[in-house]
Amino acid sequence: MTDIQTVNTTPFPDQEPGTSGLRKKVRVFQQPHYLENFVQALFDTLEDCTGQTLVLGGDGRYYNDIAIQTILKMAAAAGFSRVLVGQNGLLSTPAASAVIRRHQAFGGIILSASHNPGGPEGDFGIKYNISNGGPAPGKVTDAVFERSKSIDKYHIGAGEDVALERLGETRHGAMTIEIVDPVQDYAELMAELFDFSRIRALLTSGRFTMCFDAMHAITGPYAHTIFEDQLQAAAGTVINGQPLPDFGGGHPDPNLAHAKELVALLSQDSGPDFGAAADGDGDRNMVLGRGVFVSPSDSIAILTANAHLVPGYRAGLAGVARSMPTSQAVDRVAEQLGIPCYETPTGWKFFGNLLDADMATLCGEESFGTGSNHIREKDGLWAVLFWLNILAVRGISVAEIVHEHWANYGRNYYSRHDYEALDIDVANGIIAHLRDSLNQLRDRSFGDLQISHADDFSYTDPVDGSVSQHQGIRIGFSDSSRIVFRLSGTGTEGATLRIYLEKYESDATKLHLDTQGALADLISIAKRLCEVEQRSGREAPTVIT
Ligand code: G1P
Ligand code: ZN
Repeated sequence: MTDIQTVNTTPFPDQEPGTSGLRKKVRVFQQPHYLENFVQALFDTLEDCTGQTLVLGGDGRYYNDIAIQTILKMAAAAGFSRVLVGQNGLLSTPAASAVIRRHQAFGGIILSASHNPGGPEGDFGIKYNISNGGPAPGKVTDAVFERSKSIDKYHIGAGEDVALERLGETRHGAMTIEIVDPVQDYAELMAELFDFSRIRALLTSGRFTMCFDAMHAITGPYAHTIFEDQLQAAAGTVINGQPLPDFGGGHPDPNLAHAKELVALLSQDSGPDFGAAADGDGDRNMVLGRGVFVSPSDSIAILTANAHLVPGYRAGLAGVARSMPTSQAVDRVAEQLGIPCYETPTGWKFFGNLLDADMATLCGEESFGTGSNHIREKDGLWAVLFWLNILAVRGISVAEIVHEHWANYGRNYYSRHDYEALDIDVANGIIAHLRDSLNQLRDRSFGDLQISHADDFSYTDPVDGSVSQHQGIRIGFSDSSRIVFRLSGTGTEGATLRIYLEKYESDATKLHLDTQGALADLISIAKRLCEVEQRSGREAPTVIT
């Protein structure tokens, strides 16, 4: 790769990163120059890459292998002196964050479209993380988008593709490529945070079984090493553990709709005590007990309430943070602990400053994302290990822990209704209509439910003062129920309307109702307010989580 070629190109108008990087159909990325333009726009934005270290890897989805080779050649042309690549081009998103931090890299490129399906007809994505290991903030991604609109050439090293199978270093002109074990740094970090001997004792006690569904995505190798080898869970604990470029045709999103095999297992009386799954790139998690689903909003609240039982968090939490649509269950725990709770816009990037400034230790999103200051991404296996550590110390079941939590703090019934693949104009029309009705909504009542506030969420980052506007329509009721509306920033087909519903209940006799039933009034108010049925012709959401 000593020779550098300069290739003329013309801009693509659509290279705007969304909630989590640039995500498009594989066939969009396969257009000549599409990936190259975006990578060059990124390198131009980062300015001087000379002599820097870059981390590179992806979730192994279709096109991962081709994109890695292109990026390696472009990194050489940009002057990087060292690239740390996961073996076979693999790195989960949380592991990439851990590697960037451990090796004090300049930044990292992660190839993933997260939980979106893969394969030739599926999705591909690329995201950039900065030196703290976290997603690039908006000012960087905005600048990359701007640059992409005027790009007229890119630079690429000539030469053969690099073999990525064998660990170790090779030199390519002035650049060293180091192929790293994708699991090792990450597994070491986990062993520092959690009480592995106690978890091992639980998993080998003969009175506890677990099942982890890797959904044929990136966490398979991590889960085999950590759960089965290091923690000695029974062989077969990890299912669908081999990463496949099309995720076996599945949809690698760990929720009740998509992790069907796991959900079926955990609903049997003879099923495992504990079940968990992670998504395509390993940053999301779902946690189940036998016969019980832990909603992600409850999960972050329960981890916060039990954090003192876990070695890495025994010293106490500086604070917690949740995305705005996430339920307020964790707020109640924070209040009791006397620590601050921050409400940020959707997307992990908004937690970065709070974590860097040591204002928050644990963070969570309703979308099956949980994490902490150990890295700067949400982390699926970390959440599973946190739960295992709590279970090992407490010696009671998942259901008992959840029910005890509701008894102590009350329950925030919670659900998200998604209307996927809507016509973009229809979806924008729904949000515009809601925005226009905000003034009339304030103080309106629906039966016993009285609206106490209604706004279009705007966030001022307490660390750098940056303002993010239009982050979702919030409608709050006097009993602390909430309805939130926003459009997805990660979809690749049309638009997705997300409706988030939350109702607080402290009456001990009403803590075990069916979630959709408990939320029924709010659901019908939400549908009326946004006019989704009239405007889109859809009678029901596509996915309910
Ligand atoms: C979705 C989730 C959000 C999460 C993001 C990346 O974004 O809602 O919480 O951070 O995926 O995993 P959305 O499609 O809603 O913009
Ligand atoms: Zn993900």
